Amino acid sequence: MNNDIDWGSLGFGYVPTDYNVRCYFRDGKWGEIEVSSSPYMEMHIAATALHYGQEIFEGLKAFRGKDGKVRIFRLEENARRIADSARGLLMAPIPEDLFREMVLKVVKLNERFIPPYGTGASLYIRPFEVGMTAQVGVKPAKEYCFVILVSPVGPYFKEGFRPTKICIMREYDRVAPKGTGRWKVGGNYAASLASGERAHEMGYSAVLFLDPREKKYLDECGPANFFAIKDGKYITPASDSILPSITNKSFMQIARDLGMEVEQRHITVDELEEVTEAAAAGTAAVASPIAEIDDIDTGKKYVIARDGNPGPVTTQLYNTLRGIQYGEIEDTHNWCTIVDL
Ligand code: PLP
Ligand code: COI
Repeated sequence: MNNDIDWGSLGFGYVPTDYNVRCYFRDGKWGEIEVSSSPYMEMHIAATALHYGQEIFEGLKAFRGKDGKVRIFRLEENARRIADSARGLLMAPIPEDLFREMVLKVVKLNERFIPPYGTGASLYIRPFEVGMTAQVGVKPAKEYCFVILVSPVGPYFKEGFRPTKICIMREYDRVAPKGTGRWKVGGNYAASLASGERAHEMGYSAVLFLDPREKKYLDECGPANFFAIKDGKYITPASDSILPSITNKSFMQIARDLGMEVEQRHITVDELEEVTEAAAAGTAAVASPIAEIDDIDTGKKYVIARDGNPGPVTTQLYNTLRGIQYGEIEDTHNWCTIVDL
């Protein structure tokens, strides 16, 4: 265990660890897994990742449980999603077995950075792939590098599991209607920086993006999916321009397990009048309750958490997911991979 880290006060940031793992795709095939203790990589100055945005990534977490076991949450889903992102940008898809082997390896190698049980912190795992071929023509690379780094993290929103205010800003889009929103592409995050920073300056924790075609339906919420509770149902947007969140998918399943109805469909902005709870769902965000949504252009304010506390359904979903991740609640869907330390 690393004794220099104050686990309880960790935010969501980068903390140096001992190792990262890498694998190169050359001559049409993936090579051997390499272990590195350097936080730097060497790239050609004309690499496609640097000029034409051939960069995709993932985010997942490892948790040290009450029973001392280390669990990684739904890594097969992340493996599938990064392969989809790769196909989206004409990059070399990482085989699921290679992804799994590298995730397990990097977690084991950095075992002393997996936060102790009870601190609320976890080990964030960040796989990413970049196009390496030197090229000035706009074409996909032939060579790729897949890297996984890890970092111990605390809550993404500094408020933790406390409701925060978010806003709608119609002058910004994160992605195009049939663009790259469904893939985890670095460029999507670059495109969200200006609106995100403006929202922060105005005191909001995130932007709730609307569908980029009609600006009528809810899309997603900063680096997380949006869900709400309406008439006792779990509702969440269906859209071609959002990232299919593994956390949201898990909440949908937990909600069904709890006997709730789940609707994945278009949700209009006006419907926010009728929701009793709302939250942002994601690996980093877990479930971040939403207190209020301000529509900057219309001046309309949707107050959701009237008493300033997380709602009962969001709390139950959050506690159930955390319980499964920390080994306190039975993992009936086999979502966790236990690391053989
Ligand atoms: N939407 C966006 C844009 C994200 O960056 C993330 C974070 O990964 C999510 C949604 C949530 O996805 P997941 O629950 O798989 O982490
Ligand atoms: C995640 O939730 O894993 C994310 O990738 C969100 C963000 C920090 C980009």
